[in-house]
Amino acid sequence: MDAFSIHGGQRLTGTISVDGSKNASLPLLAASLLTNQQVSYDCVPVLSDITNMGRLLEELGSTVSRDGEKLTVRTVNESKSHARYDIVRTMRASVCVLGPLLARRGEVRVSMPGGCAFGDRPIDLHLRGLEALGAKIELEGGDIIARAERLHGATIFLGGPFGSTVLGTANVMSAATLAKGKTIIEQAACEPEITDLAILLNAMGANITGAGTPRITIEGVDELGGATHTVMPDRIVAGTWAIAAAMTNGDVVIDRFPLDHLLAVTDVLSSVGVHVQQTDTSQDPKSCTVQVVSDRSLQPVMFTTQPYPGFPTDLQAQMMALLCFSTGNSIITEKIYPERFMHVPELSRMGAKLVRQGSTVMVQGVSRLVGAPVMASDLRASASLVLAGLAAEGETIVSRVYHLDRGYAAMETVLKKLGANITRIADEQIVDGLPVVETVPAKKLVQTDS
Ligand code: EPU
Repeated sequence: MDAFSIHGGQRLTGTISVDGSKNASLPLLAASLLTNQQVSYDCVPVLSDITNMGRLLEELGSTVSRDGEKLTVRTVNESKSHARYDIVRTMRASVCVLGPLLARRGEVRVSMPGGCAFGDRPIDLHLRGLEALGAKIELEGGDIIARAERLHGATIFLGGPFGSTVLGTANVMSAATLAKGKTIIEQAACEPEITDLAILLNAMGANITGAGTPRITIEGVDELGGATHTVMPDRIVAGTWAIAAAMTNGDVVIDRFPLDHLLAVTDVLSSVGVHVQQTDTSQDPKSCTVQVVSDRSLQPVMFTTQPYPGFPTDLQAQMMALLCFSTGNSIITEKIYPERFMHVPELSRMGAKLVRQGSTVMVQGVSRLVGAPVMASDLRASASLVLAGLAAEGETIVSRVYHLDRGYAAMETVLKKLGANITRIADEQIVDGLPVVETVPAKKLVQTDS
């Protein structure tokens, strides 16, 4: 398991561009299972989660070819409908094949995803939605088996104890495209990734209106065909880069920045004293160029994570790292995943002053963080540790970089381009979380620039 060595203190400056969205790409790729025609994608990020989804599609009878950020999928064999445990366990989002397979093949077997590093993540709402469309669902040997000769339209309330569900909405909306009659999803997730999925499905011949609002209406059709789609920019990656610039008092220009999808985040940043300015107002604010600069003194804030358009849970950890440098006490409340705080003890090891009570953390600003060996067990928590390392004094070693490779394409290359002192260290050079650079020839250190 590779690690990052970061020597903090460099001010980030320069220009970077945001890749396509991972969380949009996964259900978009799963939607290819709704047709036997070719579906082509552009701006697909080069990430291990995308590779895993490609493998899953191949196991399910698709041919998948990739050329840089272009990806083409064509389903050639529709006889297999089993998403096995070894794939689902490495990537929970595999569950988004459930709706498309059920709708197209009449039967699907998907291993039940377990909990994840930040707590219980049930899929009861996905199943309730598919049952409302007429699926018969049972659990056998840890697998969900869903069957339906032909789904039928229904009115479905998809709200749960934590609000809407993103992949649940994706599953039900995708399945309903091939159902007989009209489906209404009430309290649908409003996330931009759902809108992106609806754009592709409509291009394939579906009839979906209202995506991006809490009520989505789908008029079922008999068949879907091929299409070409450009994946939206990744709002979480974009937000992470903006916070990285702020952490280092930097001056960074970010292209393909989905400003319109990050208003809750730029609002918090602006209260902190970080300015995210669109440089050319004639550009579409869903993908535009912004400049990020910060005032020297950062103000404390209070924010709560919420479903879109609220502050995204996927940027909570990164914002916490930034608030460690504010001049006062900030309050962060996590309303989507109340246990999503694995970064708290690790940031504390770097000198952060954090007090957690249930789903709330008080961040007491400090004048400095100090480098330390740290590790986290999920993607966004790991990202917050990298950000903290960029601003900390001395060396920070962030272990288990494979978490970051799931969601940030060549993170170290992007940060290096902005002037960060960050190096990837190969697995065999790390013992007990620390690099053993003195005892091995320098050439054995792996620097990944691709
Ligand atoms: N929930 C239920 N029942 C369900 C489904 C969800 O109670 O059937 C609860 C969850 O436990 C959670 C809340 O509803 O408290 C929202 O979960 P949601 O279903 O929206 O999450 P998801 O669709 O599984 C996606 C992203 C996550 C992101 C969440 C919330 C993908 C592949 N994943 O997950 O992204 O945190 O939405 O915005 O789109 C990440 O990228 O690091 C990541 C974890």
